Amino acid sequence: MTATKQKRSMVRRAQFALEGALNMVFGNGLNPLYYLGALGFFFFWVVVISGAYIYAFYKTGIELSYPSVEYLTNEQWYFGGVMRSLHRYASDALVLVMALHLLREYIMGRYRGARWFAWFTGVLLIWLIFAAGINGYWMVWDKLAQFSTVSTVEWLDWLPIFSEPMSRSFVTQEVLNDRFFSLISFAHVTLPLFILFLLWVHIMRISKPVVNPSRGLATWMLLALLVLSLVEPALSQGPADMALEPTNLNIDWFYLFIYPLLDAWTAGQVWALVIGSTLLLAVLPWLPPRFKNIPVPEIHLNDCSGCRLCVADCPYEAVIMRPRSDGMHFAEEAVVIADRCVSCGICAGACPSSNPFRGEEDYMSGIEMPSITMSGLRTSLRSDLEKLSGRVRLLVVGCDNAVSVLQLQSASVAAISLPCIAMLPPSFIEFALHEHHVDGVLISGCRAGDCYHRLGVLWTEQRLAGKREPRLRSRAERKRIKLFWSVSLDIKELESELESFRASLTSNQTLTKVREER
Ligand code: HEM
Repeated sequence: MTATKQKRSMVRRAQFALEGALNMVFGNGLNPLYYLGALGFFFFWVVVISGAYIYAFYKTGIELSYPSVEYLTNEQWYFGGVMRSLHRYASDALVLVMALHLLREYIMGRYRGARWFAWFTGVLLIWLIFAAGINGYWMVWDKLAQFSTVSTVEWLDWLPIFSEPMSRSFVTQEVLNDRFFSLISFAHVTLPLFILFLLWVHIMRISKPVVNPSRGLATWMLLALLVLSLVEPALSQGPADMALEPTNLNIDWFYLFIYPLLDAWTAGQVWALVIGSTLLLAVLPWLPPRFKNIPVPEIHLNDCSGCRLCVADCPYEAVIMRPRSDGMHFAEEAVVIADRCVSCGICAGACPSSNPFRGEEDYMSGIEMPSITMSGLRTSLRSDLEKLSGRVRLLVVGCDNAVSVLQLQSASVAAISLPCIAMLPPSFIEFALHEHHVDGVLISGCRAGDCYHRLGVLWTEQRLAGKREPRLRSRAERKRIKLFWSVSLDIKELESELESFRASLTSNQTLTKVREER
């Protein structure tokens, strides 16, 4: 293992440990780390709704802005003040969840290959969200707004784009006019519209994106924001006065951290930092180590009935349907859009023609991965299962992105690992149990919230529970199948799960039947 890989695996272990701990405290449905993107949407909506209320009372003008915000904060503290605080704290929370979301996608390596699109649009979102947030601070026109506005224009002046330094316009109160306030107020309304549009673009290549946190999590988050708003209301820091330089300001470190940096560094250095880190983030998907592109699935029209199951299960909108091109009597055929495909193989697992009980000749699936064909999978599974010996014989199927199941291989255990657990058609489980008389099949993968390919765990659970096509047939006894979703990369947990499964099978009546068949 290279040093970089080792470091990444350590960071992933730490991430899984943290998520595991939060799962124990809050449960899967309330674990905020599983809903960071959705929480981003949630806080965005809180900001929009609270902002709309504040805007109804806001007066645009150099002499009007500050008193109108003060009115809400002091006279109408019980509602307007709370709305103002909600607006501020939800904006802060938006930055926090955005940073954690970015970090999590990075740690999970979900930014390369076809995923560049979501990553790249995410980087653009950072700029828009900061622009809207900083602009919001100017709307109050208090001392902090004065400090932030003057520092920003001085910073912008460093760029050789303005013929005359902009900072001159801010030297005296007199030159500051109402037009400036109309401009910032217009920007504060239009920027969120751009953010919303970009959010839509951000998730447009993701099918069934989770844009709402669970109801429980949303309620807790809203309560937390409300309590914070009542305990520590958002306040202005005295009216702006261009004749005086503001001192002793309370900085919002989520949005305004750049300003203390401007005091310590030159404007050029801060530009270098900001532009440099944006460019670095933007090109990250294409930087070394080289991303290993797994060939995308191929369609075999002879075996495709246009059933749409692959379209329904693809997590990245990478399979679409088009009118039949080969003259067969079906209306449609599947097409893979290579640029969107992450090669998870879930489509192959969804295809009804991936059934291993089919005849020996020309066994092909309607859609399948060139790197692991269904016929290849059947052949290697057969040969592995035939070699098994011992009292209790088991098959373990795992996911390349979770704990490595291949370490469990032994005389009585066969193991296969797939790019995603949902690449396994349920009929393969039946095939192992009935055609090859294994005693039990253990299916392993990440917890639902951690699923590298987003929907693999969910689809597997639904297919095995008979709630989603292709379903596991009822003759595959459920007590001989075990699902194990781990929030850790630790093989020990899986080993002990396998042992307890083996023990449960030994005491199981069904084993007698299996042995008789053998
Ligand atoms: C507040 C801003 C943001 C919001 C509200 C947001 C929201 C979302 C949502 C809802 C998803 C779909 C999650 C799912 O259903 O699996 C998503 C995916 C993603 N986001 Fe964001 N995002 C934001 C900013 C960012 C940023 C700054 C980055 C990184 C630069 C980023 C990178 C990604 C990536 C790479 C994915 C795709 C993950 C995958 O392939 O499974 N996002 N985002």
